[in-house]
Amino acid sequence: MSRVSGWVQCSEVIYGGNVDANLGLTLKGYEEAVKAASSRALELVQDGYLIGLGSGRAVAQVLNMIGEKIKKEGLKLTFVPSSYQIELLSRHLGLKLTHLEAGRLLDLALDGADQVEVKTLNMIKGGGAALAREKIIDSNSKKVAIVITEDKLTKNLGEGKPVPVEVLPFGVDAVIHSIEKIGGRPTLRQGQGKVGPIITDNGNMIVDVDFGRIEDPQTLEGEIKMIPGVVEVGLFTGLADLVYVGRGDGTVEVLRRE
Ligand code: 5RP
Repeated sequence: MSRVSGWVQCSEVIYGGNVDANLGLTLKGYEEAVKAASSRALELVQDGYLIGLGSGRAVAQVLNMIGEKIKKEGLKLTFVPSSYQIELLSRHLGLKLTHLEAGRLLDLALDGADQVEVKTLNMIKGGGAALAREKIIDSNSKKVAIVITEDKLTKNLGEGKPVPVEVLPFGVDAVIHSIEKIGGRPTLRQGQGKVGPIITDNGNMIVDVDFGRIEDPQTLEGEIKMIPGVVEVGLFTGLADLVYVGRGDGTVEVLRRE
């Protein structure tokens, strides 16, 4: 096994907390689906592009394919990663990395999602706790493409999926109380391979909030964001332009925001 594919496995282990989320697909079905969708998303990548990268398994898959494409076609690409997971993988693949620059939009953001509402392409993100940087990347890109498997599509956001909220540790108890007051059922996310709560790449905590079905995600996003101590909310509204939906049989559906 090459060093690169070894690293993919390694990155999946690092990211393992979310693997069981794909209850609708077998592991083989998931792999087929995510590979097919990632491969289609590559059609957006053009020579000279500055590309923002989300985090998670789907993004790791796309990135590996981009690494191969660069080797074959000699493309000149530069990347802005949203997490240590993706930064480390990018470095292992020998990719050129940079930071966001004032006044320069990224040409493309490639990202994953935990839930996507079919009609609006609004999303819940943050299963990998990278939501804050992902939202900065997605909001500063000319085009945002999302790679998911079919089990992540939903008619209504929030059904069966909590909203991750990144919170300053100093204010976590107060934030939890305020979230309860607006009708959410919060749970402090626990770490894996460490005791106590998970700590994000920004040094913060994650509170997963069950709101049940979310009728108006944009208003809820604003309401949560107004709570002092909240760093970012895993509701992404009006950001996704294209969603590549991989199915277990290897077919891909492309959804576009109207
Ligand atoms: C990380 C994210 C990911 O995009 C989301 O959790 C999906 O991950 P995966 O592709 O592993 O299912 O929002 O913060």
